[in-house]
Amino acid sequence: MDSLKFPESFAWGASTAAYQIEGGWDADGKGLNIWDTFTHQGGDRVFKNQTGDVACGSYTLWEEDLKCIKQLGLTHYRFSLSWSRLLPDGTTGFINQKGVDYYNKLINNLLAMNVTPLVTLYHFDMPQALEDQGGWKSEKTAEVFEQYAKFCYATFGDRVKLWITINEPYIVAKLGHETGLFAPGIKEPGIGPYRAAHNMIKAHAKAWHAYNTLFKKKQKGHVSIALDSDWAVPLDPKSMDDKEACDRYLQFRLHWFANPIFIDGDYPAVMKSEISRKSKEEGLVTSRLPEFTDEEKSLIKGTADFFCLNYYTSRKVKPLSIKSSGPSFDSDMGAEGIKDPEWPESGVEWLAVVPWGLRRLLAHIKDTFGDPDIYITENGFAQSEPPVLQDKHRWGYFQETLSEVLKAIKQDGVKLKGYFAWSLLDNFEWNSGYSVRFGLFHVDFNQPNLPRTPYFSAIEYAKVVKGNELIYN
Ligand code: BGC
Repeated sequence: MDSLKFPESFAWGASTAAYQIEGGWDADGKGLNIWDTFTHQGGDRVFKNQTGDVACGSYTLWEEDLKCIKQLGLTHYRFSLSWSRLLPDGTTGFINQKGVDYYNKLINNLLAMNVTPLVTLYHFDMPQALEDQGGWKSEKTAEVFEQYAKFCYATFGDRVKLWITINEPYIVAKLGHETGLFAPGIKEPGIGPYRAAHNMIKAHAKAWHAYNTLFKKKQKGHVSIALDSDWAVPLDPKSMDDKEACDRYLQFRLHWFANPIFIDGDYPAVMKSEISRKSKEEGLVTSRLPEFTDEEKSLIKGTADFFCLNYYTSRKVKPLSIKSSGPSFDSDMGAEGIKDPEWPESGVEWLAVVPWGLRRLLAHIKDTFGDPDIYITENGFAQSEPPVLQDKHRWGYFQETLSEVLKAIKQDGVKLKGYFAWSLLDNFEWNSGYSVRFGLFHVDFNQPNLPRTPYFSAIEYAKVVKGNELIYN
């Protein structure tokens, strides 16, 4: 059964993010971040006004997380650094040594267990002090991020060799700055997301160059960015309108960031033309989509050492049917994605289970972005309340997905280097709070010691990791 084997030295991991698991929101000198502020504002921004104040308690219970990692036999663990735990006001003006100590303990213990850390610098949690000065909407934040990145490389880079600058800039831009559903809750449709994205791309590029020029020779690591995308197919494969809408859907999501970074330093042509056309119609003299200078383009192009993909679901796409009154990202894109009712739904409304979409998306990345080394840095399926430990159906989704991953490697020749399940633990699922459970380990949030218990999926995943092969019972 050689065909079910994964390549030698395939990276098997699980992922988490600081705000979603750590808790300790004001412990030991940590500064506030935008999710602390957002959740403390109440007002039903989050399910039952829940917060990440305690979450999985990983700030103190990190050894329990290590036990879970050990039980799974992972080769890699992806986690993020809380910027404001390390630098309370976001700048290197004051370094919180307790925060440094925390991540040192985590990293050293992972390495002692032979687990390779993959570290994300930014997973949705802007220090509040920087948000107060404009956050991602301010160009200055790109510079401050570069300083933060340098600080992290200098502090942890002797041991951390795999870095992700920013997690899912699309979500940060769209949910944080267009709809305001996520922190910082900015509702500036058709303007906010483009500004935020512009500065995130610059911030990423600066952080990549900082590593490349100052650290790479000595530390010999690699730096990338984690991009999320659905796969998209035309609703009616014979309709030209649906085909074009489908292309725009991918261009406005994956290519928005991947084109500048992996291709030519600039936004996709269709984004530039559509947003500029609509801006003119609105009587504006310049496009709502900011422009990169030639110098910036050459700085941005080629700033990823591998491709990190977060994949959850797919959509069938057609032209947008309901037009908004003012400018908006969706009307710029002019497309909408629909779930096929035949696709099973995992425990959260948006997550239709479409394993073959991942294979198609991987092939698209290979063909479009220069056949890069790819890591799937997030993929998973949720359970809603009440979760069951015997989550056999969920493991079935993982199996189907891993089988598509194998086809991508063996039949399509995708240079896939690793797979990270989202998530190691049930955790604070942003505005769904604790009502949506993505963990391989169940966390009992009602008990003060927050016990972790493996789901059936965890036990089966451990077998796959151990054998480096897909196993069917
Ligand atoms: C994010 C995670 C999140 C997951 C499931 C991704 O968008 O990176 O933080 O928990 O999806 O929604």
